[in-house]
Amino acid sequence: MSGSTLEIENLHVEIEGNKILKGVDLTIKGGEFHAIMGPNGTGKSTLASAIMGHPSFEITEGNVYLDGKDVLAMEVDERARAGLFLGMQYPSEISGVTTSDFLRSSINSRREEGDEISLMKFIKEMDQALDYLDIDKNMAQRYLNEGFSGGEKKRNEILQLMLLKPEMAILDEIDSGLDIDALKVVSKGINKLRDDQFGCLIITHYQRLLNYITPDKVHVMMQGRIVKTGGPDLAKRLESEGYDWIKEEQGIEEETTGQEV
Ligand SMILES: Nc1ncnc2c1ncn2[C@@H]1O[C@H](COP(=O)(O)OP(=O)(O)OP(=O)(O)O)[C@@H](O)[C@H]1O
Ligand SMILES: [Mg+2]
Repeated sequence: MSGSTLEIENLHVEIEGNKILKGVDLTIKGGEFHAIMGPNGTGKSTLASAIMGHPSFEITEGNVYLDGKDVLAMEVDERARAGLFLGMQYPSEISGVTTSDFLRSSINSRREEGDEISLMKFIKEMDQALDYLDIDKNMAQRYLNEGFSGGEKKRNEILQLMLLKPEMAILDEIDSGLDIDALKVVSKGINKLRDDQFGCLIITHYQRLLNYITPDKVHVMMQGRIVKTGGPDLAKRLESEGYDWIKEEQGIEEETTGQEV
């Protein structure tokens, strides 16, 4: 049996009266890895935040389903429990909650009452993941993301991903600010999860990441829509030629979104 399919249908999103997403259609089957690329300000992070239920974003049209269930009808915490995970472009710092406590309660929130992970098992799994991702063990006892360097925050997102084992992850610029070794470690963590129960949407600006994590499909976002879809070769072409040829092909002059029209 394969994992949960994420279906995004004609999604329109506004923020403070500005139309940001203007009809996004995208289906990611369980087990598939997709990448979204696209110039700055074209709506990529908005898509991630809207799916996860960020309160500032108003969905004015469209649907999102995970495994056939209506995601937009769910509360934010229900979305996580349903198996959705968001690795944010700018992870928040949470003072007063240690990384370890945060991870344990996140794991338990996806389990039934009475079926919580034992402390021993949790520590064992966390230690293994910390080792795998080459993260200093002391980090787990620090407040979540507080004072973490950019790269440490990103590794921490992958630590969460490995322990939570969601069905569908959206990773927003998980490669930004990573040095070469960290990029390899983070990619190794994501690849380790690859099986038919785990699907992933990777938002990135750089083909470099896709050298380590081969996507099944690559999408380009402009003007708050997916304007082109291809295979890994599309990312390679973007790396060498930029976006102008797509703008020309699609008759797009201004690729960004969100301006009053
Ligand atoms: N909270 C907000 N308030 C006002 N405008 C916003 C807000 N969030 C996003 N926008 C606007 O929506 C547009 C799309 O932003 P978004 O963050 O989705 O772009 P992006 O494609 O992720 O860009 P980048 O590649 O730079 O991360 C931008 O013009 C942005 O200013
Ligand atoms: Mg963004």
